[in-house]
Amino acid sequence: MLRTHTCGELRVADAGKTVTLAGWVQNRRDHGGVMFIDLRDRYGLVQIKFDLEKADVLELGQHVRAEWVLQITGAVAARPSDMVNPKMATGEIEIEVQNFSVLSKSEVIPFETDEYGKAGEEIRLKYRFLDLRRPQMQRHLQVRHRVIKALRDSMDAQGFLEIETPILGKPTPEGARDYLVPSRIYNGHYYALPQSPQIFKQLLMIGGCDRYYQVARCFRDEDLRADRQPEFTQLDVEMSFATQEDVFGVLEIALTAAMKAGAGVEIATPFPRLTYADAIRDYGCDKPDLRFGMKLVEVTDLVKNCGFKVFSATAQNGGIVKMLVVKGVEEKYSRKDLDGLHEQIKQYGAKGLAWIKIQAGGEYNGAPVKFFSKEELDAIATRSGAATGDIMMFMADTPKIVNASLAALRNLWGKMENLTRADDFKFVWVTEFPLFEYSDEHRRWESCHHPFTMINEQDLPRFMDGTLTKDSDLGGIRSTSYDIVLNGWELASGSVRIHNSDVQAQVFRILGISEEEAKERFGFFIDALKYGTPPHAGIAPGIDRLLALILGVDNIREVVAFPKTQKAADLMTGAPATVDAKQLRDLGIKHLG
Ligand code: AMO
Ligand code: AMP
Repeated sequence: MLRTHTCGELRVADAGKTVTLAGWVQNRRDHGGVMFIDLRDRYGLVQIKFDLEKADVLELGQHVRAEWVLQITGAVAARPSDMVNPKMATGEIEIEVQNFSVLSKSEVIPFETDEYGKAGEEIRLKYRFLDLRRPQMQRHLQVRHRVIKALRDSMDAQGFLEIETPILGKPTPEGARDYLVPSRIYNGHYYALPQSPQIFKQLLMIGGCDRYYQVARCFRDEDLRADRQPEFTQLDVEMSFATQEDVFGVLEIALTAAMKAGAGVEIATPFPRLTYADAIRDYGCDKPDLRFGMKLVEVTDLVKNCGFKVFSATAQNGGIVKMLVVKGVEEKYSRKDLDGLHEQIKQYGAKGLAWIKIQAGGEYNGAPVKFFSKEELDAIATRSGAATGDIMMFMADTPKIVNASLAALRNLWGKMENLTRADDFKFVWVTEFPLFEYSDEHRRWESCHHPFTMINEQDLPRFMDGTLTKDSDLGGIRSTSYDIVLNGWELASGSVRIHNSDVQAQVFRILGISEEEAKERFGFFIDALKYGTPPHAGIAPGIDRLLALILGVDNIREVVAFPKTQKAADLMTGAPATVDAKQLRDLGIKHLG
């Protein structure tokens, strides 16, 4: 037996026991005749005392260095009262060494592993195996385990089967680029890694599996951000004979269990709901952070004839003017602070940002004030609920730019005013997303969610009967897709699915996927829909995002054991890497240049 106890478990009640521990040397404090080592393992930290009573052991102990792996045998002793460390779980005891052995030495490590190590991310990722020794990373992986276990237990209790689906498959359209794997047996042919198990989970429904889930790895070759990794994990869910309400019920049970296990909080159900249209109207975006209010207010009609040309011209030329109110901060922010905010939202296309303060006595102050009548300003204040002490901020532009910019501004204010506590969890369902959106980049209509999403019941007749003639009508067709948003992050997406091959064919037609192409890409699936498909619906929360939110970290790399960088590289293993010529020859691949 290499140890009798772990480093985190001994307490005063154990005093007098002789124990054997094994772990890493966190640090060594040498005070001449007495020396202390903090010994660390996954379970905690314990103080080891070497002193002159065992002078030979002390002498040997003085050669020990940080991150060496030791096995220590000694007696548990209560610390003198003035030496008790209330910040340590084992802070009331120490181990008086009788003897020890070095199980493994360590080179000098490139950064400190204690809680306060402030190493840069690059070096942390290069030496991730050392980074994982930090208590913070240990905690993240433990919480990750607990959350995934709670999700699995909840899905199991609700009658779902976990079924694995292939990793080597055909492309599934989720809107990102595929990672391709060349076939050796069929040169010139490729597998695609799944962007999600979408098609397979629908086939499982056709296959009678009724309730499926999977802790599923997904792969997407897309531009990475703080909340995106090239491979990530979903709790993938699909249900037969199920409506949107059924999916909502199952997910609320699973996610509240996960929140309890991961964050120790009780989340009230049902989660509130917002339609997509209302979310855009009130928050400017489809993933509103509901930890605070500060709703956007439209004032286009009130400024249509005002003297401020930027506003009136925009209002008269089909644009919109919206605003938000920040309560009670009029004296806190200077002209310079407020003018500076524009810079921070410029990336959303904002050409300007106007502000008006309401000062003591109800007096309006700000550059645009002179262009408005008192009545006009009063009408704006009344509609938006602004009063003395508040700041009103306005933007005039196209709806797209105004909404995106003010949504970002609102989030900025949430941070500046400390309205976004990491341990405050506000879930919301966003429903009735549009079916299609126009992609300026690809110059065509694309699925908002994915092409298997069912059309909203009320919009289905005109979708199918051919009365949709103008392209612009497409933007008004609602889908049955829904998201779960948590604290401003899109946590999950799902939908009721198309279970009728005519409707599916119509969607492909509108997406500009020819019958031939649809047949070639998804023929097996369209055919499968013709063999008795149950109505079905599903969803997939991103587990990495859920964990980042639970743990209050702003990047999902912090909750993944071995993540990739923003450029999709693994700094530790060196992936992606070149391969030798023979391997390429076997695959029938020739390098260009
Ligand atoms: P969607 O593509 O919206 O839907 O993805 C669902 C959820 O997966 C997470 N997610 C990611 N997490 C980390 N890195 C990424 N690159 C990444 N991309 C997505 C998000 C997101 O909300 N098959 C459908 C689901 C369905 O319809 O059932 C799908 O994959 O949390
Ligand atoms: P300008 O006429 O560009 O000097 O702008 C005068 C004020 O109006 C400045 O405070 C600008 O930030 C603001 N402004 C300009 N364009 C807009 C706009 N589209 N929406 C809101 N405010 C604007």
